[in-house]
Amino acid sequence: MIKKIGILTSGGDAPGMNACIRSIVRTAFKNNISCIGIEYGYQGILDSKFRNLGPEDVRNIIHKGGTILKTNRCEEFKKFEYRKKGIKNLKKNNIEGLIVIGGDGSFIGASIFSKEFKFPVIGIPATIDNDIYGTDYSIGFSTASRTIIESVDKIRDTASSHERIFFVEVMGKNSGHLALNAGNATGAELILIPEIEMKNLNILTKSIKKINSKKESLIIIYAEGCNLGPIQKITKHVENKIVGSNVRFSILGHIQRGGNPTEKDRIISSLFGYHAVCELKKNRTHIMIGIQNNQIVNVELEESINNDKEINKELINLSSIINNY
Ligand code: F6P
Repeated sequence: MIKKIGILTSGGDAPGMNACIRSIVRTAFKNNISCIGIEYGYQGILDSKFRNLGPEDVRNIIHKGGTILKTNRCEEFKKFEYRKKGIKNLKKNNIEGLIVIGGDGSFIGASIFSKEFKFPVIGIPATIDNDIYGTDYSIGFSTASRTIIESVDKIRDTASSHERIFFVEVMGKNSGHLALNAGNATGAELILIPEIEMKNLNILTKSIKKINSKKESLIIIYAEGCNLGPIQKITKHVENKIVGSNVRFSILGHIQRGGNPTEKDRIISSLFGYHAVCELKKNRTHIMIGIQNNQIVNVELEESINNDKEINKELINLSSIINNY
């Protein structure tokens, strides 16, 4: 039976990662499995940044954003020579399995490493982007959505007072899940996401003009991965083309990644962590723990990496009917 496991967080941090670490450590403890916290993601494997984690070490972290293990995106781990060094370090420290908490980029590294050295690895989806195939939910999405919604509600007040058109840029890398969700929750008049290509700025301006003729202030949620270019340029273009308009933009940036996790992020993180340890104990490897239709599921890492998560078409439809009537 597995006696010692390593945990790392990798890629962009996500609120709920700490709750997940806590759950892994405490579940492992109950099962007589020792836990090693690996700091700075995959870089920590290469630099042997290992520390023991017992149930007491994860006290008072369930409510904290960020990750106590730190994180990064490790370029060296993409090279075989470094991964070889990594496996040596893990073996030297008697680590027999790994739990990787991160996004799809982190899972690619996990999958290669696991296959190359036949090393047990389990992935836990954590990214505010919620763009991982095979799971309805990724740790951090609910908290980031809450932050966006609170910010847009505030912007709505000032946009309305000044009768302005407001672009609000949100994160999501090249996906629009975060934008679509927050756009619907804030009643944004227009939601621009990479999955629905907007041909050019003139077409966009035309749609804005149409809505603006009926409403004096409007909110446009702009996913950062959209193809129309920098938001500064778009704002200028729209202001120049719509006579008498008053256009502003706001880039929400990294505030979307911080903050104390919501109830959903705490609970799902804890469930994911618990199930990951149970699966490692059963000698399951090369899987991601996910959630589908409210059930915790195992998804082959390969399946998750090789597919794109579809955008929720119902939310696109809903927005076009009730936000833009
Ligand atoms: O993947 C999470 C994410 O926050 C994306 O939404 C965003 O594009 C990216 O990370 C930003 O990364 P960084 O913090 O390295 O600028």
